[in-house]
Amino acid sequence: MFESLPRERIAFLPTPLHQLRNLGESIGIDQLWIKRDDQTGLSFGGNKTRKLEFVLGDAKANKCDTLVTVGGIQSNHCRQTAGAAAVAGMRCILLLGGDEPEEYTGNLLLDKMLGAEIKFFPDESVFTLSKRLDAIMETLVDFGLSPYAIPAGAAMPVGIVPYALAMEELNTQFQANDFFPDRILVAVGTGGTLAGLILGEHMLNLGIDVIGISVSKPADEMKDEVQDLITRTTETYPEIEPFEPKIHVDDSFIGKGYGVLEDGVVSAIEMFAKMDGVFLDPVYTGKAGLALIRMALAGDIASDSPTLFYHTGGEPALFTYSELGKK
Ligand SMILES: Cc1ncc(COP(=O)(O)O)c(C=O)c1O
Repeated sequence: MFESLPRERIAFLPTPLHQLRNLGESIGIDQLWIKRDDQTGLSFGGNKTRKLEFVLGDAKANKCDTLVTVGGIQSNHCRQTAGAAAVAGMRCILLLGGDEPEEYTGNLLLDKMLGAEIKFFPDESVFTLSKRLDAIMETLVDFGLSPYAIPAGAAMPVGIVPYALAMEELNTQFQANDFFPDRILVAVGTGGTLAGLILGEHMLNLGIDVIGISVSKPADEMKDEVQDLITRTTETYPEIEPFEPKIHVDDSFIGKGYGVLEDGVVSAIEMFAKMDGVFLDPVYTGKAGLALIRMALAGDIASDSPTLFYHTGGEPALFTYSELGKK
C-alpha cells in the first residue's frame, strides 16, 4: 500500500508487539497484548514519528527547508518534529501556545536540545495558533524561507496513511504470533492515528473494532473530525475507495479535562509499570490505560476476547508532573 509516496525512513519499524501477561491476568483478559509505538525510536519515539516519515517525504519533494508546527508546551508531536528536522538537516520552528516557563523540562527541554527554534504565544491555544498558521507561513516566506506547515498532531492526509500502514504491519505480527484481537484501544488527540488505523482495518478487512479513547473532546465532535480526516485522505489518494467508516470513540475517560491527572490515571500508570514494566504517559496513554482496566473490570471485555492496547508514546511528559513524585 502507498509504495509510491515519498517517505523518509526515520522510524525503527516494525515496533514490538508483545503480551502483557501480568496485567492481563490481573484484570481478567487471557490474551492482552500491547503494540509499542512508544518505541518508534527517534528522539524518545511516539506515534508522530510514523506520520513524520511521510510528512518529511512530502516536505522534501516540495523542496522545503523548514518544518513549522504548532502544539502545547509539552507537545510530543513538536518534540518528534524537532527530531525529524534534525535528522533531515532542516530548520524546525515550533509555535507553542502558552507562557515560556522559567525552567525547560520534559518535551520542551528535548525540543531545545534538538535545536528547534521555539516561539511562545502566551495568550494563544493550539486551536487559535492553528488558525493563524497560514498567515505565519506567509511571514516566513517573506523572510526567504521555504517552510512546510504541519498542523497540530500532523493531522493531515499524509499523516493518516502511515497508520493504515501500521495496521498492515500489525496484521503481519498477528499472523506471526497467532494472536488475532477483537478490539484495539488507542488514545485519541487530533484523531489522525485513529483515522489511519480505521482506514487500514477497512482496507485489510480484519473485522477488528478500533476504539478511540478521547483525552479531550466529546465523542461526537471527535467522530466528526475523524470522519473529516478519512474523507480528506480518500479524496487525496484515489487508490482508496471512499467508504463509510465505523468510528468508535469513547469520551468517558476525559475526567476533568486534557492533561489533568486524576487518581484513576495515576493508578493505571502504576499498574502497567508494576505489573509489566511498561511506562504510560500522563496525558494520552494513561487515560487509555485507565479505559482498558475499567472496561475489563466492568466485564465489558470478556476474558476470552483477545485485546490489543496501542501504546502511542509520550513518556517524557511523566517528568513534568511533580504530583506523580509526591510521597
Ligand atoms: C502520546 C500520544 N498519544 C496519542 C496521541 C494522539 O494521537 P492523534 O493526535 O493522532 O490522535 C498523541 C498526540 O496527540 C500523543 O502525543
